Amino acid sequence: MKILIKNGTLVTAFETFQADVLIEDEKITRIGLNLEADSAQVVNASGKLILPGGVDPHTHFDLPMFGTVSSDDHYTGHKAAAFGGTTTVMDFVPQPPPSSPISSGNGGGIKEGVDLWMEKAAKAAIDYSFHMNLTHFDENVAKEIPSLREMGITTLKVFTAYNGKLRLDDGGIFKAMRIAKENGMLVMAHCENGDIIDTLVAEALSTGHTTPEWHARTRPAWGAVESTLRVAGMAAEIDAPVYIVHMNVGGEVDMLKYARERGVKAMGETCPQYLFFTIDHLRRADGAKWICSPPMRTEKDNARLWEGLHDGTLQTVGTDHCAFYFDGTQPVIYEGREIAIAGKELGRDDFTKIPNGLPGVQDRMPVMWTYGVRAGHITPNQFVAYNCTNPARIFGLYPRKGALTPGADADIVIWDPEKKVKYGVAQSHQRTDYNLYEGWELTGYPEKVFLRGKLIVDGEQWLGKSGDGQFLKRGEGEVL
Ligand code: URP
Ligand code: ZN
Ligand code: ZN
Repeated sequence: MKILIKNGTLVTAFETFQADVLIEDEKITRIGLNLEADSAQVVNASGKLILPGGVDPHTHFDLPMFGTVSSDDHYTGHKAAAFGGTTTVMDFVPQPPPSSPISSGNGGGIKEGVDLWMEKAAKAAIDYSFHMNLTHFDENVAKEIPSLREMGITTLKVFTAYNGKLRLDDGGIFKAMRIAKENGMLVMAHCENGDIIDTLVAEALSTGHTTPEWHARTRPAWGAVESTLRVAGMAAEIDAPVYIVHMNVGGEVDMLKYARERGVKAMGETCPQYLFFTIDHLRRADGAKWICSPPMRTEKDNARLWEGLHDGTLQTVGTDHCAFYFDGTQPVIYEGREIAIAGKELGRDDFTKIPNGLPGVQDRMPVMWTYGVRAGHITPNQFVAYNCTNPARIFGLYPRKGALTPGADADIVIWDPEKKVKYGVAQSHQRTDYNLYEGWELTGYPEKVFLRGKLIVDGEQWLGKSGDGQFLKRGEGEVL
């Protein structure tokens, strides 16, 4: 099977140039001017951009939380991702606690967690990989961590918040980071101050403050800033790499810059929601739609995060896609079947019961193109670096993913830079009843999306299918 994409403009993380692209079976085999290939199906991409398929380093599909589950699973979320130009996603595997019925009792729960996520992801429609959440740590866990390498999972996420649930103490994070370094793995850190959050949440509830705004007011920005520096400090001590997920405060970017200028191998991800929204969105009547952790901050923080992308202090844009319905009591039809999944209404009277998380896996690239590239915050090459190439490099998938080069998987987006879309829930395939970017005017949108040479999105048409996605075993990544 040969496909020849002709007359497009290739945009990579490094350069922009005119060329044709030949796909043979699942791979890109040639890139050059005036290519010809017998029996190839020709796709004319004149006036269009050719981008590598997006790599979203941060999703949560089918994730149990607060008595419900995130509403996109490993099929619906993949389909939505593809419509937004993303062809690889990396999802987080929860570590079953020792008390969980699926824990074998003598290990750290890692194998059981990965087995469960493999089962859930059997319905994958695009390529995928996993990160392992490390939410308890003892000798058994320490012994089990290296086995992740054989499974092709080379990343551990740790939390400095969610006391008594997901948090490791600083000693646990430090030891886990040391083991990660010895095994060529990377620690990813969720940085907030769990002790201060618990104190403020208890005080807010006891004084009758239950509205969504208080979710943000009880998760202070300085807690995120100091824990970013704390975790970077551990990385410095060990000479290990560290990746700070979902950076949301301007001061975190300052801390990252401080660490990087001193040679610490610290890297940072932000997400579109932290570039566009503030605590004011949580004050709206439908503020629960914006509840995620860490929370939205201020316009000054938005601006500093843009600056961090502009000057390269930050390395990636992920989504932290963890969708819930705003009103999960109303059944909806998805691919012909009625479905109802409880959502944000669970916390109508108490912000601590609102499931944490937002949709975004489809929105990321179109929104970042219009309001990032076209608005002049980042260049088209930076757009590709942050959304495609850098996640592949940092997480050990490059140049198979995130690259337009012979030998790479033919994950390709034909991007129409002039296509105008009035975006919102009606255009989105994310399985939820709202969209954060409702009514936003977009210019630039994916026209065709190929996954390993197979056309899976053609305009409005879905040609992909459940089971087409492959699990990607990852090796050691790069420090950028
Ligand atoms: O609110 C969010 N982001 N939920 C997902 C879990 C996390 O910490 O990334
Ligand atoms: Zn997190
Ligand atoms: Zn997350």
